[in-house]
Amino acid sequence: MAKKKEKFSQAAMPSCPPRPVLQGQKALVTGASSGIGRAVAIALGEAGADVMVNYRGQREQAEKTAAEASRHGSRAVVFRADVSREEDVRVMFDNALAEFGRLDILVNNAGIQIDRPFDETSLEDWRKVIDVNLTGQFLCAREAVRIFKRQGVVKEVSRAAGKIICISSVHEEIPWAGHVNYAASKGGVKLLMKSVAQEVAPHRIRVNSIAPGAIRTPINEEAWKTPEAYEELLKMIPCQRIGEPAEIGRAAVWLASDDSDYVHGITLFVDGGMTLYPGFENEK
Ligand code: BGC
Repeated sequence: MAKKKEKFSQAAMPSCPPRPVLQGQKALVTGASSGIGRAVAIALGEAGADVMVNYRGQREQAEKTAAEASRHGSRAVVFRADVSREEDVRVMFDNALAEFGRLDILVNNAGIQIDRPFDETSLEDWRKVIDVNLTGQFLCAREAVRIFKRQGVVKEVSRAAGKIICISSVHEEIPWAGHVNYAASKGGVKLLMKSVAQEVAPHRIRVNSIAPGAIRTPINEEAWKTPEAYEELLKMIPCQRIGEPAEIGRAAVWLASDDSDYVHGITLFVDGGMTLYPGFENEK
């Protein structure tokens, strides 16, 4: 039977208002001026967390994120830092503590793509992507773990001493020609996350990843902005629609909340089935 293809996605919104499962918790979201980071910051804010919205270049956009994240009564502040710079990261976490008094959730989201054929990739292109996508996650996770260990569990706040959510990608599993630096960085995130998760679980610190597939954000605009490109994209998505940033936001709220307290070291794929090898669906 021929599959019915939707022209453009429905937003897949939840039917009930978010529960304040993160009430009283303090979160830091990197790269939150746009795209997935923005949606995650807003979702955490709607779930009751106070949020530090990190950005590197787009201050105005970050302020818009903060305004939305604080619409339901929680606090949101913006902070400029380049996550690939050790000193920037240290100062950002100091500021988060000065601002909120504690930290419970880190969402390691900041990421970039510099797409090139492999043999045209310069060392500089390689380093930039690895520096932001992988070293940035290392630097931020390290600061967060230091803080979470010092704080320990405060049971009125959460059953965990702290939660780290790494935003990875389906390309931590799926090889990606023309995007080798990016796929290598996300493959690195996969075992960074799992190894840290194993090391810090005894301290009641939970570390997990979300691996988004194609989500409607500026990073992949070329893949969805024309009907032709969108049609092509759907060939890789069994559920036949692009994902919305808010869907990653809701996954992040779950992973940050005590609802997932027994979940350590997993990658949660939110990808409409992209990792199900859709090219094989008609094979006999
Ligand atoms: C990339 C997007 C891409 C998606 C699926 C993401 O990690 O950032 O550009 O559309 O993976 O291929």
